[in-house]
Amino acid sequence: MSPSILPYHLRVLLAALILPLAAHAYFQVSSPAKGAQWANGQTYPVTWEKGLLDGVDTFDLELSRMSTDGLIFIAKDVPSTIKTVNVAFQSLPAADDYFLLFLNSTHGVVYGNSQQFSILQSIPSNATAPQPDANQPTVTVSGGPNPTAAFVTTFPPSANGAAGWEAVSGWGPHALALAGVVTAALSGGAWAVL
Ligand SMILES: *[C@@H]1O[C@H](CO)[C@@H](O)[C@H](O)[C@H]1NC(C)=O
Ligand SMILES: *[C@@H]1O[C@H](CO)[C@@H](O)[C@H](O)[C@H]1NC(C)=O
Repeated sequence: MSPSILPYHLRVLLAALILPLAAHAYFQVSSPAKGAQWANGQTYPVTWEKGLLDGVDTFDLELSRMSTDGLIFIAKDVPSTIKTVNVAFQSLPAADDYFLLFLNSTHGVVYGNSQQFSILQSIPSNATAPQPDANQPTVTVSGGPNPTAAFVTTFPPSANGAAGWEAVSGWGPHALALAGVVTAALSGGAWAVL
C-alpha cells in the first residue's frame, strides 16, 4: 500500500507511533503531559526540550486529534530555543484525543509530538488554574480543524535568522538572557496574535 493512499489521520498516527524512536534526539515535549486536562477559555504553556546541535532552529506547531482528520495550525516558524509558547484555547470541540505536532510543515518532517491530552468545554471549578509563562509569546487558537486555514501566528523571519544565537545557547544564563532578548523583540509588535 502506498503511503499516499492512507487516510491523513492514519499517517499522522503512524508518525506519532514511530516518533518516540525517530524524534527522540530532537524534541521532548514536557507540557502538555499525558492525559492533561486543558480547557477552552484558558491559556496554557506548551513547553519542550531539544537537542542543542540538532539543527532545528525553528518549527511549526499544529494541533491534531487521533480520531479526526484535520489539523489546527497554531504557529509557524517558532524559534525552538524559546522553549515555551503559551496557547490560549477558544471554542475548540471538547475531546480527549488531542495532541500537538512539532514539525516543518513545508517538507513534513516531524520533530516531536506531545502526549495525548484533553480540551474541556470549560475549566472545572476545582481545577488548578494554568500558569502561562508571562515572558513568552501567547497564541490564541479558536474553532475546529481546517486544513486550509493559515497558521494562527507566524513568527517573524528575524526570529529564525538571529544568526549565531543557537551557537551560543547552552541552556545557561546566556541562553536564557538571549531568549529574553528575542522574546522582547517578538513582543515588540512585529507579529500579531490574531
Ligand atoms: C522547513 O524546511 C524548509 C526547507 O528546508 C526551510 O526553508 C524552512 O525554513 C523550514 N521551516 C521551518 C519552520 O523551520
Ligand atoms: C473535581 O470534581 C470532580 C467532580 O466533582 C471530581 O471527579 C474530580 O476528581 C475533582 N478534581 C480535583 C482536582 O479535585
